Amino acid sequence: MSDLHPPASPEAVADLLYGPDVDDARRVVVSAREVRRSYAMADGATDALQCVSLDIRSGEYLSIMGPSGSGKTTLFNMIGGLDKPTSGKVFIDEVDIAQLDAYELAWLRCRKIGYIFQTFNVIPVMTSLENVMLPMVFAGRRADDARDRAADLLRLVGLGDRLKHKPPQLSGGQQQRVACARALANDPSIVLADEPTGNLDLRTGADLIELLHRLVEEKGVTVISATHDMKMLNVSDRVVWIRDGRIARTEDRADLDIRVGSVED
Ligand SMILES: Nc1ncnc2c1ncn2[C@@H]1O[C@H](COP(=O)(O)OP(=O)(O)O)[C@@H](O)[C@H]1O
Ligand SMILES: [Mg+2]
Repeated sequence: MSDLHPPASPEAVADLLYGPDVDDARRVVVSAREVRRSYAMADGATDALQCVSLDIRSGEYLSIMGPSGSGKTTLFNMIGGLDKPTSGKVFIDEVDIAQLDAYELAWLRCRKIGYIFQTFNVIPVMTSLENVMLPMVFAGRRADDARDRAADLLRLVGLGDRLKHKPPQLSGGQQQRVACARALANDPSIVLADEPTGNLDLRTGADLIELLHRLVEEKGVTVISATHDMKMLNVSDRVVWIRDGRIARTEDRADLDIRVGSVED
């Protein structure tokens, strides 16, 4: 592994943080190498992830499927730089994210990755517009610029008529759309979603999946979604099934077409 992934040069870190995204559909944007995460508990350690290795390519819609407790959120947190592996490495654009300092990591989370959570995590006292503006303000964008872009993004997710509404005045599906627009605020190359349809009804969940799919097609973002929602099978380029913290199998589009076809028959 070490010759594939030499220590990151300062230039590579600078490219990761500030460089333009290369529009190469086959480029590996995220690489997890033998990632293990164990949690120390009073009655011993739990291995939430055992030895996960996974490459994710630019523009891919990847679903991480598995039952509750299989390690999806743990993997999500590793890939998103929200938590550190007990052992193993995660590379984003070929940079080992463990090598980033706190400032660089914060920059990565703010600019490179957009996050969507099961419980939306939008700020209840702020309007849709302000929620979507927030990451842009953090990134140093001018307020009027941020406002215009936030309005555009909210229109993109179908909420052009809800700019001034606050989350309590919105349905769950609409709140998740605000979260989607917020995730896109700083033009990330990767959108990470953890059970984005987990709190939505069937129809609203299907709409959200369609929206994520559209983002992959139109904006070329890489979507990585942890889920146990089978509706995701229809739009995924690849599905990684995890069970007890290990990759049980992976299926690509061709395998999925056959399976989805046979499910619908
Ligand atoms: N902070 C934690 N402390 C201890 N155990 C944890 C913690 N987070 C998750 N786990 C355990 O790790 C395993 C995987 O959890 P998780 O990644 O949340 O699964 P999933 O998202 O697939 O439901 C579970 O057995 C869970 O109980
Ligand atoms: Mg989870």
